[in-house]
Amino acid sequence: MKRIFSGVQPTGNLHLGNYLGAIRNWVRLQADYECLYCVVDLHAITMPQDPVALKNATREVAASLLAAGIDPAHSIVFNQSQVGAHAELAWIFNCIARIGWLNRMTQFKEKAGKQRDSASAGLYIYPNLMAADILLYKATHVPVGEDQKQHLELTRQIAGSFNSTYGVELFPMVEPLILGAATRVMNLRDGTKKMSKSDASDFTRINLTDSPDAIVQKIRKAKTDPNPLPEAAQGLEERPEAANLIGIFAALSDDSVESVCRRFAGAQFSAFKEQLATLAIDTLAPITGEMRRLLADVSYIDRTLREGAEKARAIADPILRETQSIVGFLRP
Ligand code: AMP
Ligand code: TRP
Repeated sequence: MKRIFSGVQPTGNLHLGNYLGAIRNWVRLQADYECLYCVVDLHAITMPQDPVALKNATREVAASLLAAGIDPAHSIVFNQSQVGAHAELAWIFNCIARIGWLNRMTQFKEKAGKQRDSASAGLYIYPNLMAADILLYKATHVPVGEDQKQHLELTRQIAGSFNSTYGVELFPMVEPLILGAATRVMNLRDGTKKMSKSDASDFTRINLTDSPDAIVQKIRKAKTDPNPLPEAAQGLEERPEAANLIGIFAALSDDSVESVCRRFAGAQFSAFKEQLATLAIDTLAPITGEMRRLLADVSYIDRTLREGAEKARAIADPILRETQSIVGFLRP
């Protein structure tokens, strides 16, 4: 049986990269699988957060997931800190993972930057908590953007090491699901950097809460090169900004990059950008509207997260108990 788990950090507005790389796929997977979707507030505090802003962002991200089409009657939607078992299993994994494995993680290197010694210890062991999120439910498939691939490899390594250390077949080997034509959406101003919540300039990303006007402006001002659109995907090599915009178009229209190139072969970017903006607005406006409606009643969101957490605990608790017993914790 397949069980899906994925997570998103409540550290600011969701953007088009989160949507195309992850959330849109989460919505689609609900039709065929049992799914758990988690707002990972424990992960968020690996970097400094304002407490009031963190609570608001948790509700906003939850509202975006519901607005995008995640149905809480069908999938389990909750915030991580309500299920204590995540932190408990993460502790066990802190003692399974080797320092050398963590030293290879590129996300830590990027986020810690030059100030490694002043990064939190939590930021360093972040991938162990992510492994716990997934394995606490024995999830088999994890839909994410490309940037999370390395963390999922570490999750497999932890699962394998736990199983062989204790001579058990407890944890499954999880598979990443990296789906669609835009698994790594890039910064609109610099096609070599990924689109990110934390970039200082808002013109680098399209937020799920942006107005149609803002979307038009941001796409108009997006960096491109002076050449027209190529006839085939091959013509996008060494053109990161062009490749990004065409990839976004392909993902939004559920088409391939190849076919978008054929359709716009030889066109100027100004004309292509107008159509891209319309497509982005048509996709995002209904989500933004629904999000606003949901946020007008935070009690509904809070209740949904509380009920989701209860359902999550019902799956997680027996798996945590089993793990603790295997490790040798006495629970009379
Ligand atoms: P985060 O915002 O880092 O919590 O990421 C939540 C989900 O969105 C993860 O599955 C990421 O892989 C995905 N994601 C984040 N940024 C991007 C991006 N620029 N392109 C594609 N997917 C992304
Ligand atoms: N690390 C992921 C990110 O930044 C978020 C995350 C936390 C996650 N736990 C997870 C994703 C478990 C998938 C599964 O995008």
